[in-house]
Amino acid sequence: MTETANSTRNPAAWWRDAVVYQIYPRAFADADGNAIGDLKGIASRVPYLARLGVDAVWLSPFYPSALADGGYDIDDFRDVDPRIGTLADFDEMVAALHAAGIKVVVDIVPNHSSNRHAWFQAALAAGPGSPERERYIFRDGLGPDRDQPPTDWTCSFGGPAWEPVGDGQFYYHMFAPEQPDWNWDNREVRDEYLKTLRFWADRGVDGFRVDVANSLAKDFSEPLPGSAELAKIPVGPDHPLYDRDELDDIYAEWRALFNTYDPPRFAVGEVWLENRERLARYATDKSLGQVFNFDLLRADFRAGEFRSIVSEHLAIAERAGSTTTWVLSNHDVVRHATRYGLPLTVPGMPFVGQGPTWDRDRQWLLTGGANPVEDTALGLRRALAATAFLMALPGSLYLYNGEELGLREVADIPDDARQDPIFFRSPGFDVGRDGCRVPLPWTPDGPSFGFGPGRANLPQPDWFADYAVSVEDADDASPLNWYRRALAARRRLIAATPAKLEWIDSPADTLHFRRGGWRVFTNFGDAPAPLPAGRVALTTAPLDGGLVPGAATVWMA
Ligand code: GLC
Repeated sequence: MTETANSTRNPAAWWRDAVVYQIYPRAFADADGNAIGDLKGIASRVPYLARLGVDAVWLSPFYPSALADGGYDIDDFRDVDPRIGTLADFDEMVAALHAAGIKVVVDIVPNHSSNRHAWFQAALAAGPGSPERERYIFRDGLGPDRDQPPTDWTCSFGGPAWEPVGDGQFYYHMFAPEQPDWNWDNREVRDEYLKTLRFWADRGVDGFRVDVANSLAKDFSEPLPGSAELAKIPVGPDHPLYDRDELDDIYAEWRALFNTYDPPRFAVGEVWLENRERLARYATDKSLGQVFNFDLLRADFRAGEFRSIVSEHLAIAERAGSTTTWVLSNHDVVRHATRYGLPLTVPGMPFVGQGPTWDRDRQWLLTGGANPVEDTALGLRRALAATAFLMALPGSLYLYNGEELGLREVADIPDDARQDPIFFRSPGFDVGRDGCRVPLPWTPDGPSFGFGPGRANLPQPDWFADYAVSVEDADDASPLNWYRRALAARRRLIAATPAKLEWIDSPADTLHFRRGGWRVFTNFGDAPAPLPAGRVALTTAPLDGGLVPGAATVWMA
């Protein structure tokens, strides 16, 4: 990574070190009081986002949807859910964000549509063997009555991966049955997505977050393997479902389209992949351009883990000619202020039955008891220390709405209020992802803590009052004011500092690195550590004379 790649020298490379704030639209701000956050709500908070100091927002899906999977089941890729707004509201929101210097990234979901999508309804109506069915993955059922699924595969959310349609055929769904997978061998499907990308790019969208980016290309040639056999095939070119080589052609077409815009449209792929060489492939300038690095979502707050993840992902990004992403939370995982305050489970051995517990392997919250064992103060200290460490690294930083408030996971949502299909498809074991999707608190009172004039679409706990934006705004020591100061300092330092990172030797349980005139020291341990020499520019916790307390980060500049 060179200095010229930095966004301060090249405005087209804005995304390379951007702070991207993920908005989960249904949970952010509700202007019309229908309990669902909306685009007018987002537009009304532009001053908040500008003062926070983010470079871009990424909007999770706001398209028409039955909400079988939080909006990732899309009925129409080129419209806005009427409960969330209109295309005119979208244009107004984009104009307001752009006027404040904030870029707009939208979620593109290319692996599947919803089962209410016009093309899926047409496929059902047209029947077996029709060109309409060719756009999805339909196969004949097995057995004399063709009522047995083509394979015994399970879908990602639990339960069978094939759904019968009543005429001897089944369709394949990697996620919920309401999310039929597209057939990306079909030219019409490819053209339809190019049309969708162009539609949003023409409306002024600056970039795209690509959902399940490693699964579009699939091989369903017969005979299909059984699930036991499938599990043995390494993820990569020979796997029927994940990370196949044909993806290169799909993204080359997308890239060519993105490059017809000035500046070229940006894309970041959601790719969960262990194979690092293959991960880099999505991040080149022939492909999407950037790929998510999710390793910190599975890591504990430990110096060794952080250091190896940082070194590995800086190297991957450099090989791809891209930059990496630093992510501690998103709409699919337990909020990190909670993860860092919970006892770790042994990988593979969830610790059910003694209060909410984060399962490191599955990244989701399990619950089995009523008594939370979360150490909230420690969780918040570690969350800020980790964030300050990551903010200083080369690459871009993805924040998830509410983390700037130090918001924790809501663990105790009643079963009858839950919405996530994961909860319903793994009953009693995995509580799913609703706990990080609870509407944000803006004020300490009101029917939904200022989220909107009416109620919220998921129950908000009483403790949300302490985390409300207006409360934190008035408290200089709040996480919100800390994020504002830190993001402002980051912006100044990045403008003045070459991107390269050099590690400096430091005591056990600590990490210390330099970027030009900027040094960062994080104490991951519990015991205080000696403060390195230098002028302190930012801390996440008060220093004790010459000591950095446990779970704290200091910037020196
Ligand atoms: C991605 C999304 C997740 C969704 C899934 C299916 O992983 O982040 O929220 O459930 O894709 O679309």
